Amino acid sequence: MKITVEPFHHEFECEDGETLLKAALRQGLFIRYGCKHGGCGTCKSRLLDGDIDEPPSTFCLSPAEREDDWFLPCVSTPTDDCTIDIGSMGISQEEFLAGDQSREYETRIEINEPLTKDIRRLRLRIVDEDEMKFTAGQFANIQVPGTQHWRPYSMANSPEEKNFLEFIVKIFPEGRFSKLLEDRLNTGDRLQVHGPYGELRIRLSHRNIIMVAGGSGLAPLLSMLNRLAEKGNERPVQFFFGARTNDDLYYIKEIEAVVQTMPVLEFIPVLSDSWPGDWRGETGLVTEALARHRESYRNCDAYLCGPPPMIDAATSLLLERGVRPRNVYFDAFYPATSD
Ligand code: FES
Repeated sequence: MKITVEPFHHEFECEDGETLLKAALRQGLFIRYGCKHGGCGTCKSRLLDGDIDEPPSTFCLSPAEREDDWFLPCVSTPTDDCTIDIGSMGISQEEFLAGDQSREYETRIEINEPLTKDIRRLRLRIVDEDEMKFTAGQFANIQVPGTQHWRPYSMANSPEEKNFLEFIVKIFPEGRFSKLLEDRLNTGDRLQVHGPYGELRIRLSHRNIIMVAGGSGLAPLLSMLNRLAEKGNERPVQFFFGARTNDDLYYIKEIEAVVQTMPVLEFIPVLSDSWPGDWRGETGLVTEALARHRESYRNCDAYLCGPPPMIDAATSLLLERGVRPRNVYFDAFYPATSD
């Protein structure tokens, strides 16, 4: 079957029974992807012409999107010549033709330390000669040592920091990787990392930026904040960071350092369960703080990261208050409910 990819007018061949994503990657082309099994929505594309076989339902596509011919190339096989549009992925023709830049890297643990009682900082040095070129907001998979299991974590550092990858890891009592990190992994131990993946990234626009992080969901937003600061960003940014108690807030000094270099950034910490007597931040749920802060969020781009219920609640509120649906961005790979 012949597949034509718009907006690049590029054609490639897909074998019988082969998924569109697999065929594209096999032929050295790049289509953005994450999980490769219909679970993250990263590869979402539009079918302009032709026919495909696709699984009857994945939670990554709404009925309205299906109606509108959106589909997932990672689980769809063409049954006819097709034309697909990947324009919404925001990749350039150069990136598309350069093929998949994600690969496996050998790394060594530089820092493995607690940030709160159940969140750790993991800093890795890439041992390979190549650095990983990623965009602020992306994630990588870390292999659980001695197994074939991989766990996705967003990079927390700026991509400008060559040869280093930094992650924020939530510890779960039964966590395959997180418990190992807490109990057994030490400085100098080696870890295999595969990446980069994901489509969460700063979109160019003139709109104000709203960022909302909950729990361990700080990593990609911190990376994006650092990148914005490095680029001399002048768009106003409001950054809400929700946690239960003061002890659950972390990286406050790092965030305040970004505020110093990027004065358009307003940092709003929010505590939901208890707070010190001299607390100067917001209280309640992070969505309640969002609601109190502004009547209208028209002309804003929103970037969200945290537990899915927080993302759902924040998205509803922001849409009610004027953010356009296409200007709300979050990483579906970032549930804080598993390891
Ligand atoms: Fe297609 Fe995750 S890569 S849905």
